[in-house]
Amino acid sequence: MSIRICPSILNADHTRLFEEIDQVATADLLHLDVMDNVFVPNKTFTLDECREIIAHSTIPVDSHLMIHDPDQRAIHYAEAGSASVTFHFEASSNPSATILQLRNAGCRVGLAVKPATTFESIADYLADIDMLLIMTVEPGFGGQSFMADQLPKIAQARDAISRLTKKQPWLQVDGGISLETISRAATAGADTFVAGSAIYKSADPKIAIEQLRELAEL
Ligand code: DX5
Ligand code: ZN
Repeated sequence: MSIRICPSILNADHTRLFEEIDQVATADLLHLDVMDNVFVPNKTFTLDECREIIAHSTIPVDSHLMIHDPDQRAIHYAEAGSASVTFHFEASSNPSATILQLRNAGCRVGLAVKPATTFESIADYLADIDMLLIMTVEPGFGGQSFMADQLPKIAQARDAISRLTKKQPWLQVDGGISLETISRAATAGADTFVAGSAIYKSADPKIAIEQLRELAEL
């Protein structure tokens, strides 16, 4: 199974953000957390800032939208050039329509679930998406502890994905992924790993990426 490491720039040094982005160019995808202070109690990048980040990054950008109105606004992040756009199931009143809009815009489509949302609630969408994101913290902030109680949900999702005969979506985890926790998430079945603090708070982001990758490759 191929492994992908996605550094989150949420807790990078925003006063020198482009340098921070350049430091993780050996990773697979740059994880861009968009928060609107409605869906989560925190606000991050504006759409214009996202456009600048996407234009600057040499690796594909994985936009994670923690916004309350993805059915109206997710499309803007696809048009801004994200390689992948992930929106929250809890915030959408018509996930199928938003999945289709994003697909027509030509990006990969991700669906995210918060810790309290069951796998069963999104199981029907699995065949239509390119990535399922299982949050392993409450979305909103970096630097929180990994929620091990999400491991059974990851295993349940992996089991369902492995039974899909056509396209198999990537299974991403986000929140508290570190040198201590990544192998547990990988063993449960995740193949795509977001890491913020574990990369940006380390002495050398490039080495941290390689260490995470080695631990995730079972
Ligand atoms: C949290 C964000 C995460 C965050 C992860 O809501 O979605 O992407 O940056 O940060 P760490 O890896 O520090 O938990
Ligand atoms: Zn995220």
